[in-house]
Amino acid sequence: MANPQHAILTNLTKYQWYTHFSRTDGADLGVIKRALRDTRAAGAQTGVTTPINVCFLFGPTLLADLTDDIPDDFQPYPGYESSDGKVAKATQEELLLWIHSDEKDLCWETQFRFRNAVAGHMTVARETPTFIYRNSLDLTGFIDGTGNPVPEDQHDRAIVPDGKPGAGGSFSIAQRWVHDLAYFEGLSLNDQENLFGRKKADSARLPKQVPTSHLSHVELREGATADDTKPKRGEMVRRSTPYAFHDGTVGLYFMGFCREQAPLRERMEAIYGMNGQQRDALTDYSTPASGSFYFAPSIETLDASLG
Ligand code: HEM
Repeated sequence: MANPQHAILTNLTKYQWYTHFSRTDGADLGVIKRALRDTRAAGAQTGVTTPINVCFLFGPTLLADLTDDIPDDFQPYPGYESSDGKVAKATQEELLLWIHSDEKDLCWETQFRFRNAVAGHMTVARETPTFIYRNSLDLTGFIDGTGNPVPEDQHDRAIVPDGKPGAGGSFSIAQRWVHDLAYFEGLSLNDQENLFGRKKADSARLPKQVPTSHLSHVELREGATADDTKPKRGEMVRRSTPYAFHDGTVGLYFMGFCREQAPLRERMEAIYGMNGQQRDALTDYSTPASGSFYFAPSIETLDASLG
């Protein structure tokens, strides 16, 4: 049986650090592999007692240069646009180094060592340190993560099953959403709750979902989306966390995992109304500044390709 990278399904720890890279012209793959290998051992040094959870996620081009174990239907992130001009732009890169730990300094140190080790061979496209806010709240004050599969189902929902190409790996979507909190906080409580389709106080699901609610776009069911009389399909495991920059920019770093990529694309098309439905009211107050699809190979595939 192929095993997923531990960081994906283990409990999310307090601090996260996202760093996206792409190769420079003439990059030496051997240097990159050595840096990845060393980073897998992060935390083995004397004095580090807090776990450092490290996950390597590859874009289609770098994955193809590292392994023949390519999952089915792995596409680069295309970008999305609603008919009234709301845009989720595409910023596909070749590597996402995702680190989480209860110690922020260890997140920083791990990515810092990696980026120095690949200097001249990879450039940093963007990075975002994030954090768990109170009881897993989005900065709007809504609990984020309630509809995730229960822990015992998460492996099945997020990890490519044995026998398939890419077994033990996981498809991922990573986006930095920028919130207009002044707009959101100007909405009545009733409008805020209808925007997500859940109560603010306790995340209870509203019995009636308005067509623009977030759940009317992302709660995929065997029948109509958000028809809670039907079983769920295409479930994903979300590991999103908020961020706040010094210039006042705030939002949610959306990070999700799925055993297939198609349900991730389907949700993005729905959110932007590209499937004919009204766009998600979420896009009235939040816009992604970046977006990419990655694949996190199994531990065994990493062992084989990095040595
Ligand atoms: C600004 C960005 C986003 C925010 C603030 C946000 C927030 C939320 C909140 C508050 C909920 C309800 C509670 C919960 O189940 O976690 C939710 C549910 C969910 N969201 Fe989002 N979300 C965002 C973007 C996305 C995107 C881009 C996707 C998929 C591509 C997505 C997929 C889901 C799913 C699958 C659920 C659970 C549906 C179910 O119960 O079956 N979200 N989100």
